Amino acid sequence: MTPLRLSDRYGRVATDLRVSLTDRCNLRCTYCMPAEGLAWLPKPELLTDAEVIRLVGIAVTRLGVHEVRFTGGEPVLRPGLVEIVAATAALAPRPNISLTTNGIGLDRLAGPLVAAGLDRVNVSLDTLSAERFARLTHRDRHADVLRGLAAAASSGLAPVKINTVLMRGVNDDEAPALLRYALAHGYELRFIEQMPLDPGHIWSRERMVTAEEILAALEAEFTLLPDPAERGGAPAQTWLVSGHPGPPKVGVIASVTRPFCAACDRTRLTADGQVRTCLFSQRETDLRGLLRAGAPDDEIARAWATAMFGKAAGHGIDDPAFLQPARPMSAIGG
Ligand code: 5AD
Ligand code: SF4
Repeated sequence: MTPLRLSDRYGRVATDLRVSLTDRCNLRCTYCMPAEGLAWLPKPELLTDAEVIRLVGIAVTRLGVHEVRFTGGEPVLRPGLVEIVAATAALAPRPNISLTTNGIGLDRLAGPLVAAGLDRVNVSLDTLSAERFARLTHRDRHADVLRGLAAAASSGLAPVKINTVLMRGVNDDEAPALLRYALAHGYELRFIEQMPLDPGHIWSRERMVTAEEILAALEAEFTLLPDPAERGGAPAQTWLVSGHPGPPKVGVIASVTRPFCAACDRTRLTADGQVRTCLFSQRETDLRGLLRAGAPDDEIARAWATAMFGKAAGHGIDDPAFLQPARPMSAIGG
């Protein structure tokens, strides 16, 4: 019997699982969450730690997943995060384990997370100005993020990556300064084109800061050299920075202007146990229902594989019929 894989009609095979551990966050980044927050998922609808661990286990041991990334909302807010990472690291074969976080609380948790088996971290940081940070996230926590970054690096996570979303008229003048900062600290900086996942549905392609603009701004100050490393399914296109031999590199995730859907190897699980084949899916598949109805692992694995088989060819942002997903980014999981 051929082992079950998360393959689709277009020949792609998902081996990278993104698990959202909570839809809550302690920041309110304007492109992700409304200032007043959202109606959080009620606790009984969230997967328990044991349910998360069981589903991750099915993905890894039965479905060929070998990368597991925990996201949110803000995953550090999940009380069981360290235990969930430890249980994931105990799976055979052991997957690579990473975390996408806003960095707040990492000063306390980076050490325990590394001890539990965390391999890599991405910290979101859009500005070097504490004042801008407060305007952009509606919270005065810039110093906490910088502390979190430093703790991640000193606890041995490598590379520590920074995710930055540039917004026109807000922080789009900071690309070179952010790269200078990242190079000085040994962090790998990646710019992400803003995607239509904002709560107010006011995203527009015209206002979006494009990869081309970001690269032009960087090249005014730095010489970028093509990265000889194989890109594979990685969403970021990366460059080496002349004068800075080897890492850190700089990357751009051009989801909108240079979509990489054809090489996508992702599957996603929301905090309430729904499989999404894409950030922009209109459909979800309820694994929590199966789990709570007592379905055995092989039935859950088959339901997951069936869901992934229906994955769309692309996100369709450029399609006139494009519909922004009902859930904003924080409830899907970056
Ligand atoms: N477009 C692009 N990136 C986004 N993120 C959150 N919302 C958006 C959006 N609308 C980023 C966060 C974080 C990562 C998970 O996704 O900044 O770094
Ligand atoms: Fe929180 Fe990340 Fe959304 Fe900002 S982008 S509000 S840090 S989940």
